[in-house]
Amino acid sequence: MLTTPRDPSRPLSENLHLLKWVEKMAHLTKPAAIHWVDGSEEENAQLCQEMVDAGTFVRLNQETWPGCYYARSHANDVARVEDRTYICSLSKDNAGPMNNWEDPFKMRKKLKALFNGSMAGRTMYVLAFSMGPVGSPMSQIGVQLTDSPYVVVNTRIMARIGLSVCKLIDKNVKRVVPCMHSVGAPLEAGQKDATWPCNTEKYIVHFPESREIWSYGSGYGGNALLGKKCFALRIASNMARDEGWMAEHMLILGVENPQGEKTYVAAAFPSACGKTNLAMLIPPASFAGWKVWTVGDDIAWIKPDDKGKLRAINPEAGFFGVAPGTSDQTNPNAMAALRSNTIFTNVALTTDGGVWWEGMTETPPAECTDWQGNRWTPEMATKAAHPNARFTAPASQCPTIDPAWEDPTGVPLSAIMFGGRRAETIPLVYQAFNWSSGVYMGATMGSETTAAAGGVQGKVRRDPMAMLPFCGYHMGDYFRHWLKMQRNLSETPRIFHVNWFRKDIAGKFLWPGFSENMRILKWIVDRSRVRALARETPIGWMPRFEDIEWKGLDFPREKFEELQSFKGSDWISEVIGHEELFIQLHDHLPPEMIYERELLICRLRFDE
Ligand code: OXD
Ligand code: MN
Repeated sequence: MLTTPRDPSRPLSENLHLLKWVEKMAHLTKPAAIHWVDGSEEENAQLCQEMVDAGTFVRLNQETWPGCYYARSHANDVARVEDRTYICSLSKDNAGPMNNWEDPFKMRKKLKALFNGSMAGRTMYVLAFSMGPVGSPMSQIGVQLTDSPYVVVNTRIMARIGLSVCKLIDKNVKRVVPCMHSVGAPLEAGQKDATWPCNTEKYIVHFPESREIWSYGSGYGGNALLGKKCFALRIASNMARDEGWMAEHMLILGVENPQGEKTYVAAAFPSACGKTNLAMLIPPASFAGWKVWTVGDDIAWIKPDDKGKLRAINPEAGFFGVAPGTSDQTNPNAMAALRSNTIFTNVALTTDGGVWWEGMTETPPAECTDWQGNRWTPEMATKAAHPNARFTAPASQCPTIDPAWEDPTGVPLSAIMFGGRRAETIPLVYQAFNWSSGVYMGATMGSETTAAAGGVQGKVRRDPMAMLPFCGYHMGDYFRHWLKMQRNLSETPRIFHVNWFRKDIAGKFLWPGFSENMRILKWIVDRSRVRALARETPIGWMPRFEDIEWKGLDFPREKFEELQSFKGSDWISEVIGHEELFIQLHDHLPPEMIYERELLICRLRFDE
């Protein structure tokens, strides 16, 4: 039966507020057309084809990479731009010293000027999306107006989009977060488009009180896929504080033991510390009957249920993972997830229509086209893929995706892990004494900056709960919110700190990591169920050598003890580092943080 194609300019919602807002924004940005995104497969195929025709997308070899596309961004639009990211709360004090702030009145004026005519010659897509399963009480809804079809097809993987969300909006059950996005590259009549339109001037702006997002000038990642960092962390952290829940930069995984009992763990690590790998961990062969299930790899929304136990959902529907370093050895589950229906950005293109990146295979291809479109051979000093090259892959394609990953009520949370990249000082694993010492542990966590990220190699940057670039309000108030959460809980998850990255004096990693992290995860899960032993130390509870399952790994006791060691003299500078953070936050810092620091100091021996 023949059906007439849908007219995409016809609204998919009857919500008057939404219709009015779309009209007002179209009046401001002056697009050539408006397209209400229904989220269907046909629509997606058409948008992808249009991008292939425009040169934005390359369709990959469909035999080896079915349903996959490849994009190269502009060289000045390759990552999140933290220095162009703003929290425009009414008072500067509410944004805190860790966020860029601008007066909302001034910023609105600026944005109005920037968005005036910014979509000329382009289509404005009306992209309704749900963060979290459609209709879940823990989900939130947004509508992104964007002039980027690349954003539409990526968001189709990263969130639930289209008609079903419009229907939910029409039921008027939840506040909708308006998200404005323009790549900032209007087209004059007859002007040829760039393959990756963007603007050198970028603004990623959040208005926390009115729950609005305005993003200008970038088409890349967290700058442009507004449901992710902008909504699910910066705006959602504000909602969560006001409503008594938590929006966290955490993966969620489930550990199943041979008896079939599952324990869910959430883990916060700064960017580039292997969150995706941990979320998809495959236990070593000696762990017969143990399995790790993936719920999410980046963001967790956590809420107390009516019995006072925390439950968590992954608000996303896909993985926006860093490609370099991902391989069948480091993460076979991610490799399986990205084999089809995936969008690759800024990796290298092989001569047979496939993709490659550093670390994907031991032997690089003899020749390929690099992320900037130039011919590349392995002798060259440059990298074939950009270090922040990404894959956008559907979570449902991950072989270890948890059967409960879309449970509208979330999964019960038994443990929280914090971690960073620390060559020295911080042991492999230890457990906080209680919730408030755990909050201190998360608040003071740090990670070494890497030269690749533009920082000074080896310098510790404090990144509280891995939320430094993502907390949408004052970090001191955020600590207070964490502390307050406990009062509504009948049972708190146990809190742990891990460091997979400790090195010996020769600079070699002491811990093998990857699958072997299962040994630590098992101890964490068993501790959460009060089944594993530990010894009390000044910094927390620690496993002894005999408390870890070593079957299948010949790991010397002395090496484990070196990994777990901590010296008072090292911890002097560690505590001074905590204090430097606290000084910045002093006028909003909860007193509990000072008490915890004092307790830590009085337990430590600084003369060793
Ligand atoms: C990410 C990040 O992309 O944390 O997830 O930077
Ligand atoms: Mn992240």
